Amino acid sequence: MNQVQLNAIQKYAHAQLQADKTGHGFDHIQRVVAIARQIATQEQANLFITLAAAYLHDVIDDKLVADPQAAQAHVRTFLSTAGLTPTEVEQIMVIITNMSFASTLNKDTPSLSLEGQIVQDADWLDAIGAIGIIRAVYFGGAHGEKIHDPAMPPRHNMSKEEYRNLDHETIINHFDEKLFKISAMLNTPTGRKMAAHRHRFMQEFLAEFHAEWAGQK
Ligand code: ADP
Ligand code: NI
Repeated sequence: MNQVQLNAIQKYAHAQLQADKTGHGFDHIQRVVAIARQIATQEQANLFITLAAAYLHDVIDDKLVADPQAAQAHVRTFLSTAGLTPTEVEQIMVIITNMSFASTLNKDTPSLSLEGQIVQDADWLDAIGAIGIIRAVYFGGAHGEKIHDPAMPPRHNMSKEEYRNLDHETIINHFDEKLFKISAMLNTPTGRKMAAHRHRFMQEFLAEFHAEWAGQK
């Protein structure tokens, strides 16, 4: 594996994401890289493509950059200049442009390569469990969401457009609308195994939350 190229990719991702205040900071990237490395090793995937895509998976996110097309062109140029082959550049670009939760709700999204499935699993694993809870609270606070509103039921089976255009949501609704769906959506056996404990922990946390909210404690 080309460690020099991977170091350059890590630096690039760090430069693009260091100012982020929405829970996509570089600490998220480092956790996704670490989880993706574990899964890729178990699933015998191409480690270079997996780790490169893990580093870059959020740098073209339309929630984070004003112009995703320009951001894509920028990454592409950077990867070519860093000396990756056109095939490697293409493999990475296909992963990072098709792996988001919102793209997955879109029926037209092409199926992901094994490496893409692994990065998606790693990204989603970082959205559940204890880390997932604190990221949801952090995101909700940054976006002025209410903690909980029993009069605002969660919406299920949203289309990609509906999910993207959610005008308001509560932090607690986010668990039903996304976080509790994740463990069943994971692609790889290794990812699913890792999700089970995190899923249970969120259920226990929410049971406590609702008991306290209802004044039973
Ligand atoms: P990604 O693009 O990495 O799949 P998002 O950008 O949708 O994820 O979300 C970043 C983090 O913020 C995740 O942990 C996610 O669960 C959380 N989050 C996203 N939308 C909301 C929301 N409306 N309320 C609370 N947390 C949210
Ligand atoms: Ni991410």
